[in-house]
Amino acid sequence: MTSLGVDFGTTRTLVAAVDRGNYPVVAFLDAAGEAHEHFPSVVAELGGKLFFGLAALEAADRGGVLLRSFKRLLAAPECSGSQRVCVGAVDVSLFELLVGFLGALRVALVERSNLVRKKGDDAFDAVIAVPAHAHGAQRFLTLEAFRAAGFAVKAMINEPSAAGFEYSHRQPRTVSKQRTRVLVYDLGGGTFDASLVKVDGLSHDVTGTAGLNRVGGDDFDAVLLRTAVKAAGVDESELEARERAALLQQCRDAKERLTPQSKRVVLDVKGREVSIAVDDYFAAVTPLVESTVAAMRPLLGQLDAPAEALADIAGLYLVGGGSGLPLVPRLLKERFGRRVHRSPHPAASTAIGLAIAADDDAGFALRDRLSRGFGVFRDRNAGRGVAFDPIFLPEVSLAAEGVVISRRYRAAHNLGCFRFVECSGVDEVGEPRGDLLPFAQVLFPFDPALRKGVKLDKVAVERRGAGPRIEERYTVDAHGLVEVQIIDVDTGYQQTHRIGR
Ligand SMILES: Nc1ncnc2c1ncn2[C@@H]1O[C@H](COP(=O)(O)OP(=O)(O)OP(=O)(O)O)[C@@H](O)[C@H]1O
Ligand SMILES: [Mg+2]
Repeated sequence: MTSLGVDFGTTRTLVAAVDRGNYPVVAFLDAAGEAHEHFPSVVAELGGKLFFGLAALEAADRGGVLLRSFKRLLAAPECSGSQRVCVGAVDVSLFELLVGFLGALRVALVERSNLVRKKGDDAFDAVIAVPAHAHGAQRFLTLEAFRAAGFAVKAMINEPSAAGFEYSHRQPRTVSKQRTRVLVYDLGGGTFDASLVKVDGLSHDVTGTAGLNRVGGDDFDAVLLRTAVKAAGVDESELEARERAALLQQCRDAKERLTPQSKRVVLDVKGREVSIAVDDYFAAVTPLVESTVAAMRPLLGQLDAPAEALADIAGLYLVGGGSGLPLVPRLLKERFGRRVHRSPHPAASTAIGLAIAADDDAGFALRDRLSRGFGVFRDRNAGRGVAFDPIFLPEVSLAAEGVVISRRYRAAHNLGCFRFVECSGVDEVGEPRGDLLPFAQVLFPFDPALRKGVKLDKVAVERRGAGPRIEERYTVDAHGLVEVQIIDVDTGYQQTHRIGR
C-alpha cells in the first residue's frame, strides 16, 4: 500500500507521497514525456470519448471540447451526484464525471508518474480534502467518488487544516506558548478558504473557518482577459468560445509568470498585441484580494487594528496557487505586517499537509470541526407553525468515533413533519442564519396505522393525545457527514436518512 495526500483542486490536482519522513510532490508525464507537478482538473470530449487531466489538454489540442473547473459544480447548493453534465457531445452524471476523473488520476499515478512504489503494488491509501465550507452533499460526493475510483480513503479533512500541518512541519519554531494559532490563507483556483488552526505539539485543532466558495485564481484570469479585450478595443461578445478559451489560457500563463519586478503584460487579442501595465492590472484585481480580507474578518475580531489582530497568532500562512500573485503577499504584508509568511510551495502546501496526515509515523493528530450547522424545522400546533431546533452548531468538534445527539419525547401528533437543513450559522436566539441547504424532508408516521401503504403526503396532521415514545438520533461522523435516525422506541419502527442516499 502506498500512502498519499491528494488535493483535488478546482484547477489542479496535486498529489504528495509519503516516503520515509519526506513528502515529495508527484510529477505526471504528458504525451511528450514532459513532467508536470500537477494533474489538471479538466475533462475533454473527443470523438464521443472522455479524456481527463493531461490527456484532456492533449485531446483539446486535437479539437476536443474542454471543460474546466468542474469541482465548482460541487459547491452549488443544489448539487447532486445524479445531476447531468454535458462535456461536448457526451452527457454524464456529476458522480460519473468525478469517478472518471479520479480513476484517470489513479491510472496516471501507476502508469505515467514518477511515484516510487513497491513492484506490483497498485493499492493507494489516501488522505483527501474538501474546502472548509463544503456542505454535506459536497463532502459525501467527494468521499464516495474517491472510493469508487479505487482509493482507500483514510481520512477527509478541510483543505486549510492540511496546510496547517505543512506549516507546523516546516516552521515549528514560530509556534510558541504565547502564539499557538496559525491563520491559513488559501487562495486556490476556484475558492478562498481561511482557517484558524490551534497548534499544540502534534495536535492541530481547527478553531474557526471562513471562506468564499466562488472566489479564486480563475477570477483573476477573467479580470486580465477583460482588461486585455478592452485595451484591444474589442467587445468581449466578439470572441468565439474557442478564442475566449485560448485567450484565457494566455492570461493565466501570463499571470503566473508575473514577478514582483514585472512592469507590463503583453497579450495577443485577435492578432492584435496589447500591453497592459501590471499596476493597472493589480488595481483591477485589488477588490478581489480585499474581498478575501473581508471574508477573514470573523476570524480576527478587531480588524480595525489589523496588525494587533494578529498579535497572538504565530503566522498568517499564504498557500494556494493564487497566493503566488505578487500582489497578494504585498497587500497582506501592508495590512498585517511581518507575520505574513508565504509557503515555499503555495500550490502544493495542501497536498503535502495531507501526505503528512496520511503518514502514521508523523504522529500528527487533527481534530476538525463541522463548518456548517445542522438542524431541523419541526411542525408545531398541528402544522400551523414551525420551530427550528439547532442540533449541531457549526463549530462542533468532530471525533473519530462520531458525535451523537439525541432528542426523546412523546409524540403529540399522528404524523411528524421534519425539514432537515444545513445552515452556515445559528444566531443568539437559536434561529438559522446565512445559507440554508435542504438536507432531507421527512414524514414520520407516529400513528402505527399510518405505517403501511399510506400516502403520507395526503394525510392531515392532527393533534392526538400521548402517542408513542420517539427518539431522534443524530450522528455526525469524522468527515462531517450527518446521519439522522427517527425511532419509535416502543415498537422499534424506524427510519434512517443520510445525505445523498
Ligand atoms: N505563480 C503564480 N502566480 C499567480 N497565480 C498562480 C501561480 N501559480 C498558480 N497560480 C494560480 O493558482 C490557481 C490554482 O491554485 P491551486 O492549485 O491552489 O487551486 P486549486 O486547488 O486547483 O483550487 P481550489 O483550492 O480553489 O479548489 C490558478 O488560478 C493558477 O492560475
Ligand atoms: Mg486547493
